[in-house]
Amino acid sequence: MAAASFLSRFSMIWAFVITLALLAGFTLAGDPFVSCVFEITYITASPLGVPQQVIAVNGKFPGPVITATTNYNVDVSVFNRLDEPLLLAWNGIEMRRNSWQDGVLGTNCPIPPQWNFTYSFQVKDQIGSFFYFPSLHFQRASGGFGPIVINNRDLIPIPFSKPDGDISFMIGDWYTHNHTALRSVLDSGEELGMPDGVLINGKGPYKYNTTVPDGIQYETVNVDPGKTYRIRVHNVGVSTSLNFRIQNHKLLLVETEGRYTSQTNFTDFDIHVGQSYSFLVTMDQNASSDYYIVASARFVNETEWQRVTGVGILHYSNSKGHASGPLPLPATDVSHPWQNTSASGARPNPQGSYHYGQINITDTYILRSMPPTKINGSLRSTLNGVSFLNPSTPMTLADKHRLKGVYKLDFPSRPVDSKPPRLGSSIINATYKGFIQVIFQNNDTKLQTFHIDGYSFYVVAMDFGNWTEDRKGSYNNWDAISRSTIEVYPGAWTAVLISLDNVGVWNIRAENLDRWYLGQETYMRIINPEENGKTDMGQPQNALYCGALRSMQKEQLRSSAISILNGQLNLILTFMMLLFASVTTFC
Ligand SMILES: *[C@@H]1O[C@H](CO)[C@@H](O)[C@H](O)[C@H]1NC(C)=O
Ligand SMILES: *[C@@H]1O[C@H](CO)[C@@H](O)[C@H](O)[C@H]1NC(C)=O
Ligand SMILES: *[C@@H]1O[C@H](CO)[C@@H](O)[C@H](O)[C@H]1NC(C)=O
Ligand SMILES: *[C@@H]1O[C@H](CO)[C@@H](O)[C@H](O)[C@H]1NC(C)=O
Ligand SMILES: *[C@@H]1O[C@H](CO)[C@@H](O)[C@H](O)[C@H]1NC(C)=O
Ligand SMILES: *[C@@H]1O[C@H](CO)[C@@H](O)[C@H](O)[C@H]1NC(C)=O
Ligand SMILES: *[C@@H]1O[C@H](CO)[C@@H](O)[C@H](O)[C@H]1NC(C)=O
Ligand SMILES: *[C@@H]1O[C@H](CO)[C@@H](O)[C@H](O)[C@H]1NC(C)=O
Ligand SMILES: *[C@@H]1O[C@H](CO)[C@@H](O)[C@H](O)[C@H]1NC(C)=O
Ligand SMILES: *[C@@H]1O[C@H](CO)[C@@H](O)[C@H](O)[C@H]1NC(C)=O
Ligand SMILES: *[C@@H]1O[C@H](CO)[C@@H](O)[C@H](O)[C@H]1NC(C)=O
Ligand SMILES: *[C@@H]1O[C@H](CO)[C@@H](O)[C@H](O)[C@H]1NC(C)=O
Repeated sequence: MAAASFLSRFSMIWAFVITLALLAGFTLAGDPFVSCVFEITYITASPLGVPQQVIAVNGKFPGPVITATTNYNVDVSVFNRLDEPLLLAWNGIEMRRNSWQDGVLGTNCPIPPQWNFTYSFQVKDQIGSFFYFPSLHFQRASGGFGPIVINNRDLIPIPFSKPDGDISFMIGDWYTHNHTALRSVLDSGEELGMPDGVLINGKGPYKYNTTVPDGIQYETVNVDPGKTYRIRVHNVGVSTSLNFRIQNHKLLLVETEGRYTSQTNFTDFDIHVGQSYSFLVTMDQNASSDYYIVASARFVNETEWQRVTGVGILHYSNSKGHASGPLPLPATDVSHPWQNTSASGARPNPQGSYHYGQINITDTYILRSMPPTKINGSLRSTLNGVSFLNPSTPMTLADKHRLKGVYKLDFPSRPVDSKPPRLGSSIINATYKGFIQVIFQNNDTKLQTFHIDGYSFYVVAMDFGNWTEDRKGSYNNWDAISRSTIEVYPGAWTAVLISLDNVGVWNIRAENLDRWYLGQETYMRIINPEENGKTDMGQPQNALYCGALRSMQKEQLRSSAISILNGQLNLILTFMMLLFASVTTFC
């Protein structure tokens, strides 16, 4: 089946529907829809000059951008054409009261090979830069990721003039071995070691130096002189922090994971695994040549890691020649990294600040990560001595169907030194409407980033050493940025405050894929007791069943292009009715 021809037929049908709807003269009410069909396949690509299987979305690597506007409803129909189960997760999308759509094993049954599943969620009150990625089996190391852009509604002002263009960069470290091979390395108890390169938008380095092999395709971004672009940068790699910079150009930081920031110029910026930033970049140079776009490894021996550097090209329409000479170096010092960058540099836009600093903290969780260790003969990583085992039945389903014993609400709120590390489906019993502090204490030897689904949190402090109660006195209680993914330096801690207003079961994970794969995650379960244990919007009709509830799952036939079309015809009829109340666009 040619995906492309199927997709074009598909869009013809949609065009027909839209025309009909327009003819019918529908009224505008309700929140509009964005509808995507994602076919996830392996393709062969050679980003570093070595052919390998990568994961593509609709034939593209990285996948297409999902563009929506605040409060839009998003439908993504995912067709799994891999030979393994699949889930897509949505980094930074808050999924209000809807952890059923979150796309991680604790909340969703995996989509078996050749099956399909439609995610439906609303991007409630969100704006900014996010990304999707495959959350199972180390698949992100082979691709399957792409950007999500959520625009503000027209009537809501943004704190800068409308940029002349919008460019997304997916940057990340990369191995020439695929995710199955990398998994076997970890399963055998080894660490992954240095990656083979850094990709920028799925492409390898420009030949800036004879050390770069010939024939590698690199990313070129075409721009016009004098224009200002919004550049969104996401680190979707396995585990390497990257310094991002554009030769001779300033990066004006404006947004971090859905929050506008106070605007600050940087020559270069550290972006840790799983983080997203927007910068405004003005094309104010004389174009005597093209300019390098660089993503280089940080918090490692930078001399040794020089060959692991991503290089793309910024090409002005009036450029007079190729980029040449050495790459620009990062200017920012790494010795006290938080002084000028994320913790304090990314201050929120002064409008709309929220007095989080005056709210009393109701609970404290210190989550300590340790270097991987052997548990029962296997290499595992832990948080507070627990290496997470995903239950075979997602916790959302277990709750809904009143299954007992699937997980335990006994996650320790402090590090445990008295007992040996263990494996367990142990999660946090968090209190609805609580205002908690979470201290990520990194006792590992590598920088890690942590992410919390369903929420953004205030990043109030970071420091070396062990966190102690009296450090509360040094918190930024006035203008901390609120975001969903935060770096924690080795031998250091990061404190975040969270207002627990979103019911559901929410993943807390290391974004570093190797640590996550080895068990460095847990969940926070938040129910509203006044709703009789009803945690959320309720189980979606199309939810898949697995584990203890496997027998409730109907077989699914492999949907061919034709059956997809037939299926979509039904959908179209449904949508025609919806169209009388709202507008649908496609991605
Ligand atoms: C991944 O690489 C291994 C060899 O290292 C190969 O056997 C396997 O087929 C590859 N998997 C995919 C999905 O390409
Ligand atoms: C950032 O740098 C640009 C170019 O040098 C300058 O025009 C602008 O005023 C600076 N903005 C801020 C907020 O410092
Ligand atoms: C363009 O700018 C570069 C660097 O700022 C400078 O070295 C060069 O002389 C300039 N070229 C022209 C033609 O102005
Ligand atoms: C970094 O690596 C280089 C080359 O291997 C080595 O000479 C140097 O000592 C290392 N630096 C540190 C600080 O370990
Ligand atoms: C190329 O890279 C090598 C090793 O990293 C370095 O020693 C050399 O100076 C570089 N050459 C240029 C032209 O940048
Ligand atoms: C942080 O910024 C201050 C002033 O802007 C500068 O003096 C200091 O060197 C910077 N520190 C780091 C670690 O970059
Ligand atoms: C916070 O706690 C203090 C003392 O424990 C109490 O006096 C104060 O009223 C509380 N503030 C709020 C907003 O609940
Ligand atoms: C090790 O495996 C045994 C048997 O499967 C199990 O009973 C025990 O709890 C495991 N130990 C840990 C630390 O998880
Ligand atoms: C979870 O917390 C709630 C109140 O916050 C408490 O009533 C309940 O007993 C706790 N459940 C467990 C299993 O600890
Ligand atoms: C930090 O905590 C660890 C584990 O509790 C302890 O062993 C270590 O001595 C502490 N370090 C400092 C500097 O207090
Ligand atoms: C981790 O904790 C041990 C003691 O428990 C301490 O000796 C070591 O310095 C710590 N390492 C880091 C990177 O925090
Ligand atoms: C899977 O696709 C078929 C055919 O398009 C459709 O009828 C069905 O509703 C889809 N299933 C899910 C769970 O989205």
